[in-house]
Amino acid sequence: MRKIPLSVLNIGAEEKRSVLECLDSGWIAAGKFITELEKRLCRYLGAKKAVCCVNGTCGLLVSLDACGVKADEEVIVPCLTFISPVNAVSYLGAKPVFMDCDEYMNIDVNKFEDFLRLECRMTERGPVNKCTKRLLKAVIPVHVFGNPCDMKSLMEVARRYRLKVIEDATESLGSYYTVGNYKGKFTSTIGDLGVLSFNANKIITSGGGGAVISNNDNLAKRVRYLINQAKDDPLRYIHNRIGYNFRFNNIQAAIACAQVDKLERFIAAKKKNYGLYASGIKGIEGLSLLGVPQGTRPNYWFYSLIVDEKCYGLSRDGLMRKLADNKIESRPLWQLNHLQQPYRLYQSYRIERAPGFLKRILNIPSSSGLKEKEVERVIKVLKKRR
Ligand SMILES: Cc1ncc(COP(=O)(O)O)c(C=O)c1O
Repeated sequence: MRKIPLSVLNIGAEEKRSVLECLDSGWIAAGKFITELEKRLCRYLGAKKAVCCVNGTCGLLVSLDACGVKADEEVIVPCLTFISPVNAVSYLGAKPVFMDCDEYMNIDVNKFEDFLRLECRMTERGPVNKCTKRLLKAVIPVHVFGNPCDMKSLMEVARRYRLKVIEDATESLGSYYTVGNYKGKFTSTIGDLGVLSFNANKIITSGGGGAVISNNDNLAKRVRYLINQAKDDPLRYIHNRIGYNFRFNNIQAAIACAQVDKLERFIAAKKKNYGLYASGIKGIEGLSLLGVPQGTRPNYWFYSLIVDEKCYGLSRDGLMRKLADNKIESRPLWQLNHLQQPYRLYQSYRIERAPGFLKRILNIPSSSGLKEKEVERVIKVLKKRR
């Protein structure tokens, strides 16, 4: 029996051809594919600027830096997400404040507003946290597993409180809104800056890599400056501040270029498999698939199964073991960030919903190359209760 992995890449002849072109031409560090990738991302997303960089984590770090976040200032982050955006805040010496999630596991915008209204005092410089006395500078909404956050409400609150918004769209490339004032807009193009990742498990990949997206020329320029060691004079190498070496390389950009062209095909395949899973799981008491926010077209990056142990008769971990016995890979959620060792002493605000998800969610195979037969095999195992 062949193993069904959780998520594997989908690389073809086009990627190989482009890599060979880099090697043959000798352009392996800088080169035309980086500019080409930036152009293709802008065209696809309808964004003004894209700046490629080494990975999504570094993209988040430079985005915070470009937005003026400094040591001892605070940034609001979700408690339920991969740890990367929280670490990016810490690299600058800034401090995270953890928020709860909504029914789609995205940041809870109502609690975000309550926190600013009840726990902060507005000053000339911006909101100051009454408890820590620190200035709040930014918020990082993460579009978890590809489901778009409620950006309409979040942007209204953030603008009212003069917070910068850095969208972590590392999991949601290709997701967009279908109604309202953001109709037709992709995640990553709404906040001040948006960050993408081309890590191996993402919807498109170049092994590693990332990009910062913006419609603000000055911010994009600042990001490019920062990832190039903050070089003020390219001839005499004058640096007027400390920058970073976060530039992308031509070989990986060549792979990513070919992948961008396949993105909509990958999303269509993932959407189809989501539908197959949804109808197969419908009749299984105690199991359901996390839904899709109304008014959005997500990229269906990951499929989250919600396990109700009492009704299903098997715990989430029991189901994970049963799938593993049948050579099917699955994965629970990340430990919540406010409970991670480095972050236990930081402030978190009314975290009530996320622990329930942590206990009950199991992600099931979601590769874009997943075959219908494989989805059926997973469903068959889910149907057997022991
Ligand atoms: C939500 C989230 N943010 C940030 C990252 C970091 O991206 P990268 O691996 O490219 O650094 C990832 C995934 O890797 C992620 O899932």
